[in-house]
Amino acid sequence: MEFRLKANIKCSGSVSEVVSAPEITEFMRDCNEGLLKKGAPPGCGAEIVWWNVAGEKIELKLVSDRFVRAHDALLRLKNELGKFLGKHRIGIRGMEIEDYEIAMEWEAELRIKKLPFVKEIKQEEGRLKLFLDVDEFALEKRIPDRILRLLEDKKEAARWKGKKEHWELLFESNKKSFYFDKDPTEELIKRGWIKHAAGRGQWIYGPQSTKIFRTFERVLLDEVCKPLGYEEMIFPKFVTWDVWKRSGHAKGIFPEAYYVCTPKTRDPEFWEDVMDYYKVTNEIPVEMIMGKIENVGGMCYAQCPPFWVFPQGETIPDEILPIKVFDRSGTSYRYESGGLHGIERLDEFHRVEIVWIGKKEQVIEQSKQLQAKYRRIFDELLDIEWREAWVTPWFMAQEGKTGLAELKEVGTIDYEAVLPYNGKWLEFQNVSVNGDKYPKGFNVKLQSGAELWSGCSGVGLERWAAVFLAQKGFDTDKWPAKFRSAVGELPEVFRFL
Ligand code: SER
Ligand code: ZN
Repeated sequence: MEFRLKANIKCSGSVSEVVSAPEITEFMRDCNEGLLKKGAPPGCGAEIVWWNVAGEKIELKLVSDRFVRAHDALLRLKNELGKFLGKHRIGIRGMEIEDYEIAMEWEAELRIKKLPFVKEIKQEEGRLKLFLDVDEFALEKRIPDRILRLLEDKKEAARWKGKKEHWELLFESNKKSFYFDKDPTEELIKRGWIKHAAGRGQWIYGPQSTKIFRTFERVLLDEVCKPLGYEEMIFPKFVTWDVWKRSGHAKGIFPEAYYVCTPKTRDPEFWEDVMDYYKVTNEIPVEMIMGKIENVGGMCYAQCPPFWVFPQGETIPDEILPIKVFDRSGTSYRYESGGLHGIERLDEFHRVEIVWIGKKEQVIEQSKQLQAKYRRIFDELLDIEWREAWVTPWFMAQEGKTGLAELKEVGTIDYEAVLPYNGKWLEFQNVSVNGDKYPKGFNVKLQSGAELWSGCSGVGLERWAAVFLAQKGFDTDKWPAKFRSAVGELPEVFRFL
């Protein structure tokens, strides 16, 4: 890797008038021998290859390898130069980065067309050359290092591309009897239990399907949350960028988010043209609106991230661990791909999110307890056929990563059930041990100083319904007795002509 940087250092007074040429030469030589080699293996580091003093300006050309990257060298030099010129009562006003080129070996197949802070990219003969567009502020923010890390990420992503996400079978239930062989969504529509809403991947659930959802929820509360000591909370359903920066979603969520905007101002006058346009045309002037709103985040996506603002920055006393909470207060949103399908793949869905925090062993233990409770529900109450698989952790997948976490205890178990009508397996919930990612990301500490871990589990109500109805059908006499009595009578309303 090679770095070539041309910079101008602007000073508060004329350097050429105050400092003699031999003195400058000696300064540059000393830097080349010491400062710009510090920390690098012998023969490596950065080098000032040319300089010129012109009044208040010192022009510099720096060349380096990857050991003391040229921008680091420049920042070191600026500091040292400050001390040196200080003796002559001259200060440094600022720096101007005229050119910054970074060249490296690169696989020809992986084309890089665009990068932030890069004005030109040349890619030829197994080499990649970047021409950066950066200022002093960007160097201080380590933008060049971040660009290089981004390139590493792209290489890694390319290696994984085409490969499947991780999937490893952990458990398979017994075979069960199926009483239905059609698509449950179609049957739900036919019966008038659901109707497609106005939005993409959005449904309105009539009294019958709502009663089934609420029964699932009650089963979950009675069989899992209450016996394991989980307390209900209400998590926000609008998520700010700060939360998604801390949770890692800001690395990958963009193609799937539902974006939330606020008006730039509440002033009715500011909005008058929009209102008038609508009144005259009966059409919503979306473009006009776009210029008047501001994006502030997105709608709930993973459900647990906004919870973390509650303990954010706090210290937790050891004796209250493990903390166990759940939220069922609202919908989640994903801009799904073309694969939208009935209640199986939705843009708007309902989920109960269970979150626990503790020391490593406590978090792993909670995950095991949840797994045991879930198995009982699926086996005894719903009597479905399902399997469990060890998959790419959800938080990695949502950052656009594949593979597995570094620690083997950290990861996600997906619960999947077969849909008899098409033979496909549908993921209907998950349980994850998320390691220290969330306490770290949201700066939550434990009083004793021990490491904090967390876990979460998402139970999708539409997915439970899709799986249960696909396997057990709509003849309630065929439903497992315990579940049938938990549901009770289904209401008969909304019969349209
Ligand atoms: N937050 C987890 C997920 O998004 C569990 O719901 O999958
Ligand atoms: Zn979660």
